Amino acid sequence: MSRKTAIIYSFHTRKSKKVAEKVIEAWGKNDIEAVNAEELDKEVFEKHDNFILSAPTWFDGELPNYWDEFVPDLEEMDLAGKKFAVFGLGDQKEYSENFCDAIGIMSEILEQCGGSVVGHTPVENYTFEASKAQQGNKFAGLPLDQENQARLTQDRVNKWVEQLKKEFAQ
Ligand SMILES: Cc1cc2nc3c(=O)[nH]c(=O)nc-3n(C[C@H](O)[C@H](O)[C@H](O)COP(=O)(O)O)c2cc1C
Repeated sequence: MSRKTAIIYSFHTRKSKKVAEKVIEAWGKNDIEAVNAEELDKEVFEKHDNFILSAPTWFDGELPNYWDEFVPDLEEMDLAGKKFAVFGLGDQKEYSENFCDAIGIMSEILEQCGGSVVGHTPVENYTFEASKAQQGNKFAGLPLDQENQARLTQDRVNKWVEQLKKEFAQ
């Protein structure tokens, strides 16, 4: 029996939560389990095979505190056989040199732990100087910019969910 996908985001954010709810809606809420990133334990990573993670960028190119605090636990885990997709809020105008860095930081950690990261998206239609999320002409996940491109979010989420349904199934 296939297990539910988990979506992990901070329940206490305003913007990321709103976008996570769009992802849940697009996924179909009966097929996904929402987990609060601020109350994470290792068990969550054992219970599921596929994960969607919300990693907004804070502090000029850093993970938010709740992820940063969990990183030492994460680094002890063996995530082989598990698939991850990371979306993250960021601001390409105000933080053009660190646009959505958290997506890059998070996916690197996941890969170091043996996990595979899917859900890469093209860098087209964003304007920024530098991003740790960029790998060639792709991002390591899905950047969403509620400050400057909020109108594009719903469509980006819908397309990404469609892509993930295929990539998680492979
Ligand atoms: C103090 C501060 C630092 C930020 N640093 C970055 C950054 O380095 N890169 C980026 O892309 N966005 C940055 N942002 C923008 C946030 O990622 C953006 O506002 C996002 O919507 C926050 O989502 P959240 O409130 O759900 O956590 C920063 C915002 C603040 C307030």
